[in-house]
Amino acid sequence: MQFTVAIDGPAAAGKGTISRAVAARFGFRHLDTGLLYRAVGAKGGDPVAAALGLTAEDLARADLRSMEAGQAASRVAVIPEVRAALVDFQRRFARSDGGAVLDGRDIGTVICPEAEVKLYITASAEVRAHRRWREVGGDAGQVLAALQERDARDMGRADAPLRVAADAVLIDTSALDVDAAVAEAIKVVAQRLG
Ligand code: DC
Repeated sequence: MQFTVAIDGPAAAGKGTISRAVAARFGFRHLDTGLLYRAVGAKGGDPVAAALGLTAEDLARADLRSMEAGQAASRVAVIPEVRAALVDFQRRFARSDGGAVLDGRDIGTVICPEAEVKLYITASAEVRAHRRWREVGGDAGQVLAALQERDARDMGRADAPLRVAADAVLIDTSALDVDAAVAEAIKVVAQRLG
């Protein structure tokens, strides 16, 4: 069975948690596509060569979850050749047998426009920054500023900017706890599975 769940949205909206929960609930495979861009950014050197030569080892680096790695990912993600180098892998994953959940910024709009389910997970910048600040600590104002800078770059780039797909179901997690947000996403997928 081929069944793709495309989950997009800005940083710290809850995409990762929701994607893992949906994948676990339905027995689908999960790909965190942000990790691909993080690995390219962290590798250094020519980003296009890094994207073309990405290895499993690159994706297993322990430092990919940091705020710095997120900013570096967002910077290399504006380069069309970097994005192009990662398309086939993501599409193959999306159509692999047994169902797949992919989360990122352009899954429902560019990578899998034919996805059976598209979710757009969002929350206010303040709520997202507060969540991120609880994880990383430091200066709360700086965390908010870094998040807004990343939002602006991810939404403003020319190639595959972050957008709500016309047929996406929007889930705003600003006032939802994790369980409620996950339940909402699972309800949408279950309805589509029939
Ligand atoms: O989801 P994340 O925070 O790990 O993503 C890191 C950056 O990678 C994000 O700011 C923009 C880029 N990205 C992208 O351009 N397209 C994707 N499908 C996933 C991530």
